[in-house]
Amino acid sequence: MIERTARGAKTLPGEYYTSESIYEEETERIFTKRWLYVGRASDVSEPGHYFLHNMDKESIILLKDEQHSIRAFFNVCRHRGTRLCTEARGRFSQSIQCPYHAWTYSLDGRLIGAPNMHEVKTFNKEEYPLRDVAVATWEGGVFMNLAESPEPFENAFAPIVNKYKQWHLSELQVAHRRTYDVAANWKLILQNYSECYHCPTLHPHLNRLTPYRDSSNDLEAGPFLGGPMRLSGNNESMTMTGRSCAPTLGEVSGTDLKQVYYYVIFPNMLLSLHPDYVLVHQVQRQAPDRCRVVCDWLFHPEAISHPDFDPGDAIEFWELTNKQDWHVCELSQQGVASRAYTPGPYSDLESMIAAFDREYLSALGMSG
Ligand code: FES
Ligand SMILES: [Fe+2]
Repeated sequence: MIERTARGAKTLPGEYYTSESIYEEETERIFTKRWLYVGRASDVSEPGHYFLHNMDKESIILLKDEQHSIRAFFNVCRHRGTRLCTEARGRFSQSIQCPYHAWTYSLDGRLIGAPNMHEVKTFNKEEYPLRDVAVATWEGGVFMNLAESPEPFENAFAPIVNKYKQWHLSELQVAHRRTYDVAANWKLILQNYSECYHCPTLHPHLNRLTPYRDSSNDLEAGPFLGGPMRLSGNNESMTMTGRSCAPTLGEVSGTDLKQVYYYVIFPNMLLSLHPDYVLVHQVQRQAPDRCRVVCDWLFHPEAISHPDFDPGDAIEFWELTNKQDWHVCELSQQGVASRAYTPGPYSDLESMIAAFDREYLSALGMSG
């Protein structure tokens, strides 16, 4: 095993967690340039199904069109710019109609109705489709990219595109979804997830299942970071009882039956793979000192449809762990906003946070 080292790095200065101007810089350089995880393909299973992804000033409609393709559009009318849709999720009949003057768009974004505009000689409907947004699906997840010419998803995700095949992630369904509002900067959530130095004090139960030093990393630099932790004794999964609560997923076998895997997928996804279920956190920025975390517990549909299916053991485990984590993230936010705070030294057990900070700073255009 390669020795873990934080290379003597220190935590980020306080302004990275509090400053409006750094937050805006993140918007320009990261959140409107990188591929963002926004939900599951199963959230839009039928034509017309949609959900909104709201991010600062932007609102994006993600929907399934009549050809069963997932598409994304800016939620902005091409007439006078009005927000078209305000319900967080739902189903369009066959079109999207603006509530102001009833311009109407097809599910593939074409303008198909514009009352009275035929009187305007120079007007051509074809010139006013909804502005589209690049979208990709990977392992059942939906990703979008607001850049004008985004890096192709397959390039951006090349290091991990085939990494998780044995879990058959694209087949999995959401058995439980929970949204948390956390009074902490988004990076504190990702940094907290990137180390288990805090596990003995904060998560005694988790630490019994996976002792904190019994871990390694197989992705140690760049936008994808993380690796396995070993399950102790007879423990089978991360649950309150330590027992599996569903059959083993896909082709998971061998050592993977005795490990759980944790990955940060920069900038807003956390992927936790267990032998019997998968947990996905989506971190949404709200303000420098606030974020929202959407947590999905994913199981195989055959397990879900079994009459004895009870994911409670896994849900309770991660509800407990999440709450313990969000609590210290909120305490961190309060502390790093103090005039007394100065960057502190990382332990070598926090080498993945140091790697995260380097990736973050280089994405911001600063030396990492
Ligand atoms: S602003 Fe949408 S139809 Fe006028
Ligand atoms: Fe934790």
